[in-house]
Amino acid sequence: MRRKIVAGNWKMNNTLEEGIELAGQINDLVENTEINDVDVVIGTPFIHLTEVNKVVGEKIGVAAQNCADEKSGAYTGEISASMIKSTGSKYVILGHSERRTYYGETNEILVKKVNLTLENGLAPIFCIGEVLEEREAEKHFEVVKSQIAEGLFHLSAEEFGKVVLAYEPVWAIGTGVTASSDQAQEMHAFIRKTLVEQYGEEVANNTSILYGGSCKPSNAKELFENEDVDGGLIGGASLKAEDFMGIITAF
Ligand code: G3H
Repeated sequence: MRRKIVAGNWKMNNTLEEGIELAGQINDLVENTEINDVDVVIGTPFIHLTEVNKVVGEKIGVAAQNCADEKSGAYTGEISASMIKSTGSKYVILGHSERRTYYGETNEILVKKVNLTLENGLAPIFCIGEVLEEREAEKHFEVVKSQIAEGLFHLSAEEFGKVVLAYEPVWAIGTGVTASSDQAQEMHAFIRKTLVEQYGEEVANNTSILYGGSCKPSNAKELFENEDVDGGLIGGASLKAEDFMGIITAF
């Protein structure tokens, strides 16, 4: 069956020193707390990956927040999937709305990144989600379905089996406005149904679908109780070890 996952996304926060300290605090809490069968992931800026992988134990997986859309070569400033792999990391967050909005990341670019991530034995945490205008126009299901289809449906069922999905309604990211438990479940069930149509029941039932958007210790339990919500992708609340643990232990 599918895994429960709580993944932090530090975004562009923490110096190297601060990141090592935070990862150490999270690791200590994870090691010393009874956790209910949840995979814990920390998504750090590139500069932290190597050191954070040294700090954390077996119970925590490390994620990059992006990767290049080319294998290697003259792409100044880029970081390839194979470089990420060489740091000991296991995941790459792809298609976050901040990257789609601020850095022009299209589904076409994401297909290349997804392929390189998988070729390097890393698991994509693939983000999808509608903006407020799309929800108000009742286009949110259509938007999310096309993001999944255009970014991922070129994969075989076996390849898709390695993907983690993160539904992040853009209007809920960093705003303090969380999707209601019902809104989250409704969309997650729709996503799973979309996966059933493309890959069948088994693949769909084995896919972890995370919720992201102002998730915090006080609302995590209510969100995670939903049948199709398999965990969270956490921004702001992943920057404090106690808050992040409060979400991990909400399961
Ligand atoms: O990747 C994480 C999401 O963008 C959620 O961020 O928890 O700060 O709203 P947030």
